Amino acid sequence: MKKVNNIAVLTSGGDAPGMNAAIRAVVRTGIYHQLNVYGVMYGYRGMLTGDIFPMENQTVANIIQRGGTILKTARCKEFYEYEGRKKAYENLKKFGIDGIVVIGGDGSFKGAQKFSTEFDIPCIGLPGTIDKDIAGSDFTIGFDTAVNTAVEAIDKIRDTADAHDRLFIIEVMGRDAGYIALHSGIATGAENILMPERKTNIEDIIDDLQANERRQKLVNLIVVAEGDEFGGANEVAKAVKERLPHLDTRVCILGHIQRGGSPTCLDRLVASRMGYAAVMALLDGEHHNNMIGIVNNQIEYTPLDHAVKATQKIDPEWFKIVKILAS
Ligand code: F6P
Repeated sequence: MKKVNNIAVLTSGGDAPGMNAAIRAVVRTGIYHQLNVYGVMYGYRGMLTGDIFPMENQTVANIIQRGGTILKTARCKEFYEYEGRKKAYENLKKFGIDGIVVIGGDGSFKGAQKFSTEFDIPCIGLPGTIDKDIAGSDFTIGFDTAVNTAVEAIDKIRDTADAHDRLFIIEVMGRDAGYIALHSGIATGAENILMPERKTNIEDIIDDLQANERRQKLVNLIVVAEGDEFGGANEVAKAVKERLPHLDTRVCILGHIQRGGSPTCLDRLVASRMGYAAVMALLDGEHHNNMIGIVNNQIEYTPLDHAVKATQKIDPEWFKIVKILAS
């Protein structure tokens, strides 16, 4: 197994709170083990343009608590093509880079896998996404912060909903996964949670709202995942307004505030542990081209070409709990 001397770290795809904590862990673990560590700006785009710079312990001072990513991020189409990856390799060669840590989602890992097979540079993936939609880890960097941001926002919405006796339909992020919706909906006592992993029956929602009205429950919160098949909060509101026009209904789309902000303690811990494990994996040589995950509180390795989107298996009991607790 080739010895690794010069490693690079980059963030790719949508940013997620905790990415900076992961960068810090990679840089400081690498330097501790006498590696040269380079930062690549704007994800794979920086590999193509040669936007690469040496990092020191000092470069990552005062960032553990910051959202976003000091390395910036981008989605890079050119890297999907062989010619683009070749250009990236040539740039890395100039710095003697012989190991890479990619912090991002499953799309970023697919690029890393291709690259490392073609050019024999080991890559390690760290799951960084607020959507938590990656198989092989109980945690992804950023999810806990995003879900807590959603909870804080929904709690505030509940205050104003309560003051006006309103129905609020709140849309949360998650792309085609409903983890943010499920967690934030349960934690805020939402009356209904709509998500892609579960069939949405608008008639059931109308029935619930009518039943709530009969028993004079005047505040109703419905949390909708953006990827729900019904088409998001505006579509749900349209259907509700058609059937129950007398209800005072409002829509709130939380949007990108869920991606920003200071990472929670959990995200900082997960990012620090994963960042450390990524460098150790590059050094031990046994886990090259794997994604680092945490499963049952243990570090787990998933080959990058197996790192796929997780499909959430929802225990139906959760929905029983939602119903009982919203009564
Ligand atoms: O994957 C993270 C995410 O925030 C998704 O939840 C959302 O669908 C998407 O990125 C938004 O992407 P963009 O910032 O490019 O609009």
